[in-house]
Amino acid sequence: MAKLRGVVLAGGLGKRLAPLTKITNKHLLPVYNLPMVYYPIQILVEAGIRDILIVTGGNNAGDFLRLLGNGHAFGLKHLDYTYQEGEGGIAAALGLAEEFAEGQKIVVILGDNVIERSIKTYVQKFSKQRKGARILVKDVKDPERFGVVSFKGNKIKAIREKPKRPESSYVVTGIYMYDSKVFDIIKTLKPSGRGELEITDVNNAYLKKNQLYYDILDGWWTDAGTFESLLRANNLIAQKVRGRKG
Ligand code: DAU
Repeated sequence: MAKLRGVVLAGGLGKRLAPLTKITNKHLLPVYNLPMVYYPIQILVEAGIRDILIVTGGNNAGDFLRLLGNGHAFGLKHLDYTYQEGEGGIAAALGLAEEFAEGQKIVVILGDNVIERSIKTYVQKFSKQRKGARILVKDVKDPERFGVVSFKGNKIKAIREKPKRPESSYVVTGIYMYDSKVFDIIKTLKPSGRGELEITDVNNAYLKKNQLYYDILDGWWTDAGTFESLLRANNLIAQKVRGRKG
């Protein structure tokens, strides 16, 4: 079986964190004792993924290279990088990974997502999956901030991006697994109301083909793209690190 490849999406302007993001990239900000982007890379490496692409952008893209180099801090021999011009959305950033993927399946993680536990079991399930996509969902208190999943029985019925009136409290976390068809899907997308190519549209395209699978993510999960969620991420990681020491 071919090895899965990993993609960390760390582009975008992080406007919701201004002025913290005026002179640096959101993913270089600290989350407790490490720069934010370390966490998604660690998650992929822990899941057994060795070939990793970092997609970044903006004025501080060069700092990623200085910070991460060839990935030695993660036990890697090499890291790949690419540059997203502008802020065309998560799916636009992912589209830049097509050549890196070389037709293999990919595990994608947003650069501002932080989680408690391993994703290894979900990744193993995906590597046995013949085709399609796999997402990880989570029950949260503020679903309207995310892509919200509605269910029919235990099957996903639809995903809606930031609905005013969420149909459930389950949201799509920023960890996505795709077969190579994802790049064809991205090419068919049109910008949303917020002017972005939406990852939710990609997931709904798989749903339409009956090829969207999911697991409920175990352990806590947070993004870190707003002041509140950045603080939460810091506190959760601090507790986790202290727990390990104590
Ligand atoms: O965190 C999970 C949520 O992430 C999902 O539930 C939503 O469905 C999904 O749309 C996304 O929501 P956000 O609006 O919170 O995404 P945001 O614009 O904050 O971008 C999240 C990360 O994606 C960001 O840290 C870097 C990457 N990104 C984003 C954009 C807009 C890029 O690499 N390039 C981009 O152009």
